[in-house]
Amino acid sequence: MTRTLITGGLVITAGEEVHADVLVEHGRVVAMALPGSQRWTADRVIDAAQKYVIPGGVDAHTHMELPFGGTSASDSFETGTRAAAWGGTTTIVDFAVQSVGRSPREGLDAWFAKADGKCAIDYAFHMILSDVDERSLKEMDRLVEEGVTSFKLFMAYPGVFYSDDGQILRAMQRASVNGGLIMMHAENGIAIDVLVEQALARGERDPRHHGEVRKVLLEAEATHRAIQLARVAGAPLYVVHVSAEEAVAEIAAARDKGLDVFGETCPQYLFLSTDNLAEPGFEGAKYVCSTPLRPREHQAALWRGLRTNDLQVVSTDHCPFCFTGQKELGRGDFSKIPNGLPGVENRMDLLHQAVVDGHIDRRRWIEIACAAPARMFGLHPKKGTIAPGSDADIVIYDPHAEQVISAETHHMNVDYSAYEGRRIMGQVETVLSRGEVVIDRRTYTGRAGHGVYTPRSTCQYVG
Ligand code: URP
Ligand code: ZN
Ligand code: ZN
Repeated sequence: MTRTLITGGLVITAGEEVHADVLVEHGRVVAMALPGSQRWTADRVIDAAQKYVIPGGVDAHTHMELPFGGTSASDSFETGTRAAAWGGTTTIVDFAVQSVGRSPREGLDAWFAKADGKCAIDYAFHMILSDVDERSLKEMDRLVEEGVTSFKLFMAYPGVFYSDDGQILRAMQRASVNGGLIMMHAENGIAIDVLVEQALARGERDPRHHGEVRKVLLEAEATHRAIQLARVAGAPLYVVHVSAEEAVAEIAAARDKGLDVFGETCPQYLFLSTDNLAEPGFEGAKYVCSTPLRPREHQAALWRGLRTNDLQVVSTDHCPFCFTGQKELGRGDFSKIPNGLPGVENRMDLLHQAVVDGHIDRRRWIEIACAAPARMFGLHPKKGTIAPGSDADIVIYDPHAEQVISAETHHMNVDYSAYEGRRIMGQVETVLSRGEVVIDRRTYTGRAGHGVYTPRSTCQYVG
């Protein structure tokens, strides 16, 4: 099947909304025209009347199979990318991990091996640097040349992923020269560990205390510090999983000064809150992630940040752990609950619901979920848009279909949904990945190994 015609849909990109026919050949978009205006022939015709035709989602923050907290994230590259396709996401950027004492290269090779031949959709890698020394700094240059152009550093998790300010500054200085983008987990982990110890000593052991010790001020302080370090180094900065109003304010203030500081938030911070962490029994463990869920009053600042472009990207930070046997590792000690939430399948739908609810408009939906992450992480113009020459990663989205999110029906390899019972207006109907139909009117037609590794250029984001 080499030539596909998608007819009569409303094509929505970050830049415009237009009724158009879209012609796909050899995995790419080759032409677009007013509906019915061309006599194109095709092997397959997809009728998209009354539907949206949108770029496949780009989820720039996933952790398939991540070893963490004494266990591993429950989605493999096979199950996680299949679930992503079901949810209208056609590219993920996952995090390869440098282990302490090992080189980044070893970590990257291990992640290549995990993903090779397994993915249903295209994938790329960021690199987590857990041991910034001379060797790692040199390797950063080579990784950028090879298409791994972004590096996550942690101000949290001492003894695991943590980097001190000197290591952070050195990595930023290197990035300012080699064009890499530093992604920061901005929480003051040294101070948080003191508060964890004190809480446990007081007998505060339930999941809700995870949110209480990981204080808003310690996210804001770390965000401020990361921004100042990036200024000193002359490097751009991307702050991941921003959850607190005070952290958004730090990013907004930096951007008002004209600095290249960018921010990402995630659906869990937009739709969930500390109320979930406080659910009775041990249920709150389902919502333990870091940065933590915040009181619901923070959500307005996140939505405002997305509208004003102080926040540019919504990624999932998909890092699922089953409730049974994994989250349960922290019964009686919240600090032992593996950190992370499932969501790779839900992001496009939740953000469409945000359109329905009036938080953002349709083009902003596509901007924050497809176009901006593609440009931010060097995947544009292949990914994140529908235009002649771009990869035919296309979703036919039915804005009128209703669904209820549930673990009973989702495709992620995890035994609960963080959004259980939530009604969503809109549903993915058909998904093309480089022109191949991988979801056909809500039947999976893809295969493990269709997805290919996609090297990236450096950050192309301006604004
Ligand atoms: O809780 C989270 N976010 N788990 C994944 C690791 C990280 O910090 O992104
Ligand atoms: Zn993080
Ligand atoms: Zn993460």
